[in-house]
Amino acid sequence: MSKFKDLQKTFIDRIEISQYIGLDTSILFYNKLQDSISKPLKMILLYGKPGTGKSILINKIYHDLKDRTDIFIISTPIQNDVEFVKTLYTFLFPDEEVPENLTYNQFIEICNSLKDEKHITVLLDEAQLYPSSMMEQIRLISDTRVIKFVVSLHKTEKEDLIAKEHFQSRIWETIELKNGTFHDTQMYVQKKLIQQNYFEVASMFDKSNIRLIHKFTKGNYREINKLMYTLFEIYDYYESNKPSKIAHRTIKNKFIEMAALKLGYIHA
Ligand SMILES: Nc1ncnc2c1ncn2[C@@H]1O[C@H](COP(=O)(O)OP(=O)(O)O)[C@@H](O)[C@H]1O
Ligand SMILES: [Mg+2]
Repeated sequence: MSKFKDLQKTFIDRIEISQYIGLDTSILFYNKLQDSISKPLKMILLYGKPGTGKSILINKIYHDLKDRTDIFIISTPIQNDVEFVKTLYTFLFPDEEVPENLTYNQFIEICNSLKDEKHITVLLDEAQLYPSSMMEQIRLISDTRVIKFVVSLHKTEKEDLIAKEHFQSRIWETIELKNGTFHDTQMYVQKKLIQQNYFEVASMFDKSNIRLIHKFTKGNYREINKLMYTLFEIYDYYESNKPSKIAHRTIKNKFIEMAALKLGYIHA
């Protein structure tokens, strides 16, 4: 595979814990979330725009805590309430078979009977996809204090409403993930390249390149991935078709602008 094709691959959007990067901002949110999980809260709301790193954060927390605490993750919403409580049941009783006709109400009773006995944490990703009736059920389960939920969702107007209605009392804590700073953008680009042993490519990016990348992406990690992917796509094209046009020691801002144009961040 050509070098630039391989570099493109590095910036494909995916959740890979081994590739987690401890950026200043991500460490801050990580510590906040870990601190919230350790408190006697019923629910924790983690929200932020798409691409701010919610999924990778909860996957990382899950990965780090799963061996010493009862913590579980539901990455893809289970939108059927019976299937949902059955899954929760397996979290509470990993060695037992799930009762065949388990209902939501029975599950609540089971939780009530476990009060003060069991405490587990369940991380719910993409929670904007749960219907509001199920959010209400989740809230009632959390009231038993047997299961503490971390609810991770995209911020939209609708979710703002959820935030207002449910998350404003003391027992709910909210953490809003934000885009990275200029420094985070710089570290993210550099560390992604260094992780793949592309030291010489990492050193091709100077401050003005990063400033431009940060300007176009506003420090949103998904957007940085897209821009970097497209940038290396362009480099790959030039390498095959017009190799004399690409410098080998620096990245020309012109190419970052071409990538931005292609992605529609700017218009010709
Ligand atoms: N701290 C980080 N270390 C490594 N990759 C990150 C980090 N933060 C974000 N990313 C990457 O950025 C992309 C978007 O992050 P993601 O967690 O999917 O965002 P969200 O769930 O908020 O939409 C993913 O490809 C993810 O791997
Ligand atoms: Mg996500």
